[in-house]
Amino acid sequence: MADDVLTRSETLVSSRHAGLSGRFDVPGDKSISHRSLILGGMAIGTTRVTGLLEGDDVMATARAMQALGAGISQDEDGSWIVTGVGTAGLVSPEQPLDLGNSGTGVRLLMGVVAGLPITATFCGDESLSRRPMARVTDPLAQMGAAVTSRDGGRLPVTVTGAQTPLAADHVSKVASAQIKSAMLLAGLNARGTSIVREPHASRDHTEAMLRHFGATVRQRLEEDGTHVVELEGEAVLTASDVIVPRDPSSAAFPMVAALITEGSDLLIPGIGMNPLRTGLITTLQEMGGDIEISNERTEGGEYVADLRVRHSQLHGIDVPAERAASMIDEYPILAVAATQAEGTTRMLGVAELRVKETDRIAVVADGIFAAGGTVTYDEDSITVTGGGVAGGMSIDSQHDHRIAMSFLTLGMGSDQPITVTGCTTINTSFPGFAVSMNGCGAALAIAGDS
Ligand code: S3P
Repeated sequence: MADDVLTRSETLVSSRHAGLSGRFDVPGDKSISHRSLILGGMAIGTTRVTGLLEGDDVMATARAMQALGAGISQDEDGSWIVTGVGTAGLVSPEQPLDLGNSGTGVRLLMGVVAGLPITATFCGDESLSRRPMARVTDPLAQMGAAVTSRDGGRLPVTVTGAQTPLAADHVSKVASAQIKSAMLLAGLNARGTSIVREPHASRDHTEAMLRHFGATVRQRLEEDGTHVVELEGEAVLTASDVIVPRDPSSAAFPMVAALITEGSDLLIPGIGMNPLRTGLITTLQEMGGDIEISNERTEGGEYVADLRVRHSQLHGIDVPAERAASMIDEYPILAVAATQAEGTTRMLGVAELRVKETDRIAVVADGIFAAGGTVTYDEDSITVTGGGVAGGMSIDSQHDHRIAMSFLTLGMGSDQPITVTGCTTINTSFPGFAVSMNGCGAALAIAGDS
């Protein structure tokens, strides 16, 4: 079957197979890819980005940065060249910026526009248009931006940035890298120090990359776990090349697939190991997962390592609420792993899952229930009791890439195949997912093919 046919297929069927083996290359980190294009465009000079994720979300951010005045093109060797124009060189786009499915793209770019004397309207797909934006636009308005939005703070949103933004002084109720990053990006042009406090540390890729581009950023953890970030305003960013590590959130799918399928022994090299992203690895190891971490090194300023994953009998555990920020995108696939474990896995403090690409608490629980698994949930937790699932059903991704990949992975461990509709959404974060899986031994097929 031609690779691109599989990648563009709306409906895939996943069945049991004889285990995953060999080397599985996952694509570049989505969070770091977005930031490399945004900061590269705001910097002065030319930034070469190697290993950029060429998924739909990141490409939407690339088009938006071009519309704001940055130059972005792909070089012959596959790397990307960002021609930064400095913050003073960014302009109001002529058309609304369509960020597709991407919460990160839309929220970070709202921060960029809020700190500059320009106006942009933001829109997105059905899923993004349901997601809350006030958590970002309210604090940006406090920094001086003028914001209008649809009822309930939804897209489309129009942001007119302040002539002279006020430095942020924000206490976030949730640990969200998107909220924090929007404030920091708006704060680049403010006079004085912007301060953002979050209840736990969320991923700090914006802080790291701002430093890489020459800004002064301080971070500290207070005794109660509060993460405080301070950015010196009136910063001038200087172009600096970026090497994007492979995405730990994408590695999560082959990792769990290998753990739950008998006979698996899989190498997943070059994965980003920022400690604010590795909560799933810790959790799976606590559940008895055989995940060997080796060849730890620093590449392009990022900590990376190779992972070797072998089939393991998992057992249920309690996953503490404090860990949620470090694995927020990984709960759907953890829930899949939990269906194959002995005993019960309780995932606590996961209310943020309700405002992702779908309400992931409800969609994950409903899907596992439909597959014949044992699952309960409330506003802030999901509990899965293992022992396997029957499968033999169909689930729709509802424009959520991680739902699609999670249930295709569940099909590898269920008694009967699982069909997933709406699979092209996988291309937002993991183009080539099905091809890479099948290359290592999975049995993902287009519905109707035998
Ligand atoms: C991201 C932050 C997370 C995560 C998203 C990517 C980022 O969202 O869910 O996939 O790149 O900043 P929140 O910061 O809203 O939790």
